[in-house]
Amino acid sequence: MRFLTAGESHGEKLIAIIEGLPSGLVISTDKIDEMLARRQNVYGRSERQSLRDKAKIVSGLNDGKSTGAPLAIEIPNGNCGKKGDFEYYRPGHVDMVADMKYCFGDPTLGAERASARETAVRTAVGAVAKQMLELLGITVNARVTRLGDVDIESNEQIKREIDKAVAKGETLGGRLVVTLGGVISGIGSYAFWDRRLDALFAGALMSIPSVKAVECGLGVRFCDFYGSEVADCIVNGGNRPKRISNNCGGIEGGISNGEDIVFTLTLKPIPSISGLSTVNKFGDPCKSGNVRSDVCAVPAACAVAEAISSFVLLSAIIDCVGGDTVDEVIDRYNRKGATAWNKKYL
Ligand SMILES: Cc1cc2nc3c(=O)[nH]c(=O)nc-3n(C[C@H](O)[C@H](O)[C@H](O)COP(=O)(O)O)c2cc1C
Repeated sequence: MRFLTAGESHGEKLIAIIEGLPSGLVISTDKIDEMLARRQNVYGRSERQSLRDKAKIVSGLNDGKSTGAPLAIEIPNGNCGKKGDFEYYRPGHVDMVADMKYCFGDPTLGAERASARETAVRTAVGAVAKQMLELLGITVNARVTRLGDVDIESNEQIKREIDKAVAKGETLGGRLVVTLGGVISGIGSYAFWDRRLDALFAGALMSIPSVKAVECGLGVRFCDFYGSEVADCIVNGGNRPKRISNNCGGIEGGISNGEDIVFTLTLKPIPSISGLSTVNKFGDPCKSGNVRSDVCAVPAACAVAEAISSFVLLSAIIDCVGGDTVDEVIDRYNRKGATAWNKKYL
């Protein structure tokens, strides 16, 4: 499965076309809109988010079910036609490198496409994939675990840390953890480098604007331990093998091992801050001004990370087991989940 997105932040609409979705998937647009709301109406976002994103499926659907043909999704944009009004290159944004690459002579043009607004339609695509994963018994959840230098355990803490940043006229980065539960072992590849499951997740999750690190399982903390301290020892768990810990984050040798798949994402603080030194399009020094902007993208990025992870996993599953219809995929997936272990030990 693959998909392409099109659209600018203040263009008429965002569009995605998914290729390779099996036929027969009952798609609820309410569920897509719920996920869009979780990206849009969370703490830390700007007032533009009072607009309510609604997805519309315009092809590849018959009687509410996918047909196997390209599935096109559209999300109309609010504020259409009204571009960014800054005349300088914003540090930490695409503005300057986009202008140097494409010779726009306009610091705002690259940002129109590079804007995280595009993640709305990726979230819609992932919400479709998530509905198919539900049929395979797979859950996908993301939660904020850190904002700035504070570990997060409750929504109240999220509000408190974001309010503190607002009071200082600052922006805030942080961490989130995405967990995919109920995945059988055997998805991905050790034999083909470009199909290693951890690499597929890492590349896709790193494509979320602001994400600067993606870790699988224990991630960078692996280096704090001796090998024996972090080995995921194996026991016979009856109907399947079990690891007594999950430091590897559910993936060994590029293949799912039947444990939860766990990724941690670190996001940099939102780069739109006033008073930063920069230059305008003529190279004259100036300071960045006040632009409408989110204060913290981490809560919103949870929905995006869930969506993107759902798509990556579904795509890897279909790559592995194949199938033109939803029933075929479910049947092949369940049989694959059972065979390897059962044949050998049951
Ligand atoms: C959901 C989400 C919302 C974002 N909102 C803003 C925003 O309002 N203002 C801003 O300056 N950056 C925002 N960002 C971050 C920028 O899009 C991002 O930092 C910028 O495009 C540069 O990309 P890079 O940080 O990956 O290099 C947001 C990111 C995400 C994931």
